[in-house]
Amino acid sequence: MEQQLKQLELEALAKIEAASNLKELNEVRVAYLGKKGPITDLLKGMGKLSPEERPKMGALVNTVREHVTEKLETKVAHLEEQAVLEQLEKEAIDVTLPGRPVRVGNRHPLTRVVEEIEDLFLSMGYEIAEGPEVEKDYYNFEALNLPKGHPARDMQDTFYITEETLLRTHTSPVQARTMIEKKGEPFRIICPGKVFRRDNDDATHSHQFMQVEGLVVGENIRMSDLKGTLDIIAKKMFGADREIRLRPSFFPFTEPSVEMDISCFKCGGSGCNVCKHTGWIEILGAGMVHPNVLEMGGYDPKKYSGFAFGIGAERIAMLKYGVEDIRHFYTNDTRFISQFQRTEG
Ligand code: DAH
Repeated sequence: MEQQLKQLELEALAKIEAASNLKELNEVRVAYLGKKGPITDLLKGMGKLSPEERPKMGALVNTVREHVTEKLETKVAHLEEQAVLEQLEKEAIDVTLPGRPVRVGNRHPLTRVVEEIEDLFLSMGYEIAEGPEVEKDYYNFEALNLPKGHPARDMQDTFYITEETLLRTHTSPVQARTMIEKKGEPFRIICPGKVFRRDNDDATHSHQFMQVEGLVVGENIRMSDLKGTLDIIAKKMFGADREIRLRPSFFPFTEPSVEMDISCFKCGGSGCNVCKHTGWIEILGAGMVHPNVLEMGGYDPKKYSGFAFGIGAERIAMLKYGVEDIRHFYTNDTRFISQFQRTEG
């Protein structure tokens, strides 16, 4: 019987050694250690042995069982490790491969113009103000000295929500709102935002566009302050050697009102296609805040004065970047937008 056991052990160990996968190993386990296996059989047959022989044989069977179990476990561990190694090899990543390019977005040209203006005015102590795009007729027109029926309203026809509510036609209503909010205190604000007009879209008109409004209210604010400020805008946006020219104009909310031109940045003033051979380019409207507007905003026009200006962001961007059609800003064609990548500053 001892001989038989030794033989069994050798056989089992050899089969374990030869097994090449977990399934085969399991078959060996069932065959040798299972309930119907030879080792179990031998244990069952112990009863037939003499009482002296029993402990010795019992120990021997157990040793054989331990050896076989141990060998099985070692082999299982080995096969499992091998499987992991194989998988690792199969899924290996080649870190030396070049990466896939990531498409990085860039700021919209209008955003860039607006941010440039904001930065300039923040550096001069202005605050950024905002107002609603859906506005009351009162703030958009009346508080700006454009009472109902005023002929100048015709130039700014818009989209009405109700009789008294509309999509704002300019950022100027923020002037009226800020004056009320500031309760008679002097202030300086810059206000960028979307505005709307009932216009037929073409290369130079859009029913939606962007403006940047500026307003300063305080004591002794003079026309020369406005002129100096406009000069700074012109030089910052279009180059240090730009000159400005103020022409008389009309806006109901300013008196006097002006239109500012800059000397042409392309030809320097001698005349070219950009300035339509005049040497000058019209940039923005401005003026001294009308006493009626100050009064409606809660400021005594005898004590306070102010200046204001309104810049069209598209016009600045079109001039600066040589864009020929205003609609490019709104059609979301990435071929257009991505051209501004390299000049990103
Ligand atoms: N609100 C005017 C417009 O949309 C632009 C403008 C002109 C704004 C003169 C001003 C200003 O603040 O003083 O046409």
